[in-house]
Amino acid sequence: MSKKIQIAVVGSGYVGLVAAVCFAEMGHDVICVDNDERKVAALQGGDTLIHETFLPELLNRYRNAKVRFMTDLAEATRECEAIFIAVGTPQSETGDADLSYVEAVACEIARSLTSYKVIVEKSTVPVYTNEWIRRAIERNGVAREMFDVVSNPEFLREGTAVSDFLHPDRIVVGADSERAAAVLAEIYAPLTGGEYYTRPDHITGICNQNEPPVLLNTSTKSAEIIKHASNAFLAMKISFINAVSNLCEATDANVEQVARGMGLDSRIGPKFLRPGIGYGGSCFPKDVAAFRSVAEQMGIDFGLLTEVEKINVQQKKRFLSKVRSALWTLRGKRIAVLGLAFKGETDDIRESPAIDLVGMLLGEGCSVVAYDPAAMKRTEEKLPASSQLRYATDAYTAAHDADALLILTDWDEFATLDLDRLYTTLRYPIVLDGRNLYDPQVMLRHGFTYVSVGRPSTFPVREYAGSSVL
Ligand code: UDX
Repeated sequence: MSKKIQIAVVGSGYVGLVAAVCFAEMGHDVICVDNDERKVAALQGGDTLIHETFLPELLNRYRNAKVRFMTDLAEATRECEAIFIAVGTPQSETGDADLSYVEAVACEIARSLTSYKVIVEKSTVPVYTNEWIRRAIERNGVAREMFDVVSNPEFLREGTAVSDFLHPDRIVVGADSERAAAVLAEIYAPLTGGEYYTRPDHITGICNQNEPPVLLNTSTKSAEIIKHASNAFLAMKISFINAVSNLCEATDANVEQVARGMGLDSRIGPKFLRPGIGYGGSCFPKDVAAFRSVAEQMGIDFGLLTEVEKINVQQKKRFLSKVRSALWTLRGKRIAVLGLAFKGETDDIRESPAIDLVGMLLGEGCSVVAYDPAAMKRTEEKLPASSQLRYATDAYTAAHDADALLILTDWDEFATLDLDRLYTTLRYPIVLDGRNLYDPQVMLRHGFTYVSVGRPSTFPVREYAGSSVL
């Protein structure tokens, strides 16, 4: 039977909130601290604040019992053995991660520290952050033997964050002291020992009792680099396939076939080879920039990352030029946009390529009618409805009388549209699919001009044949 640990999680954003409820699901007692009183009250009342599978169930099961929400970090520090820092590390103007929230939390913990604590950095941070946290705590008068600082990066994806947490590919613990590593091993024992997966009500996923996740012990600096390097590598894979998709367009090859052919090589693997309109979200853009900046500060030329970013920016512009080619001129055109979130199954619009494209379309003088199953509220706060931008209640209302339909986010519901209905709803049957959700031949049979990414476009009307929209 695993030991129950008292855990504090500081920050109730995507990482903090998911970690808090998942630690409770693993059997621990958790205090989740946030300095935003309204957020704390909402969470106490059962509002998850974010759209995430399994989160409402777990929050309802544990809130105000195994997970307590509060604003008082001092009390949480006194009560808990391990304190996970999961506050934001936004990108500063230079591309570096802004670590001022992490520093403020470290200093506050230091002021309330009366017995040995393990302070765990879970936010994505550059190498040496652990060192800085340690120094900040010591500067506040805490003796070295009273605490350890550990790096335990999180690899969860939005939309599948809860199952990613409970079924991780690996758990990385960067600790320079055995005492701290032992506490982290105890915290994760319900997963690494397989016990959690024997519970009848456990959330199912890739791990099970016989194949529990691996816990990798590293130095703190290695753990910090593992997180940045992993995200930068995945972003590189996406930019790579996007660059290949451009070559496929230029040569009439099909990127889906190319990606499949590459992905079957077990050294490459099939994941993160989906071409599109570029990566977005709260992690990849920020982490690539931060990793590049760290390398620069260390005197390392990591120009590869600059190329990764460049391709990502170009991919959006390239999609806009496809829209222009399909419609000839853009000013005054009515465009239906399906998808605002940075990827499907989330309401997050941070660094969303879809939002960038909506901005570009508006800048070109188009009028846009947008629909997203979950991200419209957040988008409207950023881009209020106007005479040029409207929000629709469903995909068909957005498509009504539009000159073209753009698919910008890979929501499942956009892959199963009633194509006959869509055909009669649009003013012109033109679909530009930035996520390759449809088979071009199926779209052709339904009478659409269909332009996607890295695949030959299809044109039903004879007069278009032979011309290229690229
Ligand atoms: C990512 C990492 O996957 C996760 O490990 C880390 O902890 C946080 O950052 P997330 O931002 O939730 O997770 O999204 P992810 O599913 O990785 O997608 C990121 C972006 O890349 C999205 O805009 C997505 O549409 C895009 N993407 C992803 C592609 O364009 N092609 C792909 O093949 C995969």
